[in-house]
Amino acid sequence: MTSIGVGLIGTGYMGKAHALAWNGVRPVFGDGPRPRLVHLAEVSAELAARRADEFGFERSTGDWRALIADPEVEVVSVTTPNAFHAEMAIAALEAGKHVWCEKPMAVALGDAERMAAAARASGRVTALGYNYIQNPVIRHIRTLLSEGTIGEVNHVRFEMDEDFMADPEALFYWKSEASSGYGALDDFGVHPLSLMQFLFGGVARVMAQLSMPYADRPDRAGGRRRVETWDIASVLLELRGGASGVMALNRSAWGRKGRIAMQIFGSRGTIAYDQERFNEFQLYTASDRPTEQGFRTVLTAPVHEPYDRFIPAPGHGLGFNDLKIIECHELLRAIGGERDAQIVDFDGGLDIERAVHAMAQSHREGRWVEI
Ligand SMILES: NC(=O)c1ccc[n+]([C@@H]2O[C@H](COP(=O)([O-])OP(=O)(O)OC[C@H]3O[C@@H](n4cnc5c(N)ncnc54)[C@H](O)[C@@H]3O)[C@@H](O)[C@H]2O)c1
Repeated sequence: MTSIGVGLIGTGYMGKAHALAWNGVRPVFGDGPRPRLVHLAEVSAELAARRADEFGFERSTGDWRALIADPEVEVVSVTTPNAFHAEMAIAALEAGKHVWCEKPMAVALGDAERMAAAARASGRVTALGYNYIQNPVIRHIRTLLSEGTIGEVNHVRFEMDEDFMADPEALFYWKSEASSGYGALDDFGVHPLSLMQFLFGGVARVMAQLSMPYADRPDRAGGRRRVETWDIASVLLELRGGASGVMALNRSAWGRKGRIAMQIFGSRGTIAYDQERFNEFQLYTASDRPTEQGFRTVLTAPVHEPYDRFIPAPGHGLGFNDLKIIECHELLRAIGGERDAQIVDFDGGLDIERAVHAMAQSHREGRWVEI
């Protein structure tokens, strides 16, 4: 395969990130099929045409179904709001396309199950937008864990906080609607859950409490609308390996801009990481001499693969969009039949969705729920 035809649905925040990845993957990695940017869909033909010109796509449409019907499109990026993922991804799979879909996989668990079934039936490759597992730091932490650098892991703490909904007067938009899901759980929780799956094989049981800091928000029409989602979630959990854990999520955390903080405590040390400083991690090992014990900060460098594909010099740092380029490369490797590609496919995504819905059930019923 020398080239692969790409379709992109949606051109907002994530649509642009996918477009940058499709444009960047070949120059960065220099292998695999050359992406050919064939078809782009948006809500109107005018917007689609403008974005196609900006992003470098050959043609555009105001009707995403026309993109799915295009025989030259072989892989489809779905970057629309959550409520559209299931319908678009399933249509693409049924048309024989590979799918790269943004997280969360779907709003209803039944939809996620239908997506996973469609993926299995199609034999096509699927990947979800769990970009944080692509960070060279996270990959290296996984290596350290498998090497036993901090011994047996007995406790983990995950936090994800941002402040884009911290202002009680911030406008009501789709993320406050029940059609987008529960709120912080599926908007945020899925990211730490993808890390727990990547590092520890996932979550066995959960006990959750959801909270809604603001009951209503101003709408575009000048009135107020009742908020339908929970912006805060507090979760106790148990990992499949047996370690206990805590996950705390807050979309209304003033001052936090992109925090996905993780502490992993083991019998011989601790690893700490924060997405707000995602080119470094901290390591404490009990095997250091007592006179020098303390956390050391390790900056990423070409030795932390695949950092070297972007930059030959240590300490210069990757950015968010680079994680999308790595994710795109892993997707292409999977399409090329490489079985060790690091992606969360629709079966892996379904496992994450089950954890999300178990947390919501736990909140409703006030008890621990097994996954
Ligand atoms: N992986 C990540 O780190 C990450 C970060 C942010 C958002 N997301 C996910 O990406 C998805 C999109 O979020 P966003 O922040 O990019 O939203 P956005 O509002 O910025 O962009 C969504 C785009 O989809 C378009 N769209 C809506 N309905 C459409 C339709 N029927 N046909 C074609 N286009 C349509 C909109 O016009 C808009 O341009 C969400 O599911 C979100 O959860 C993932």
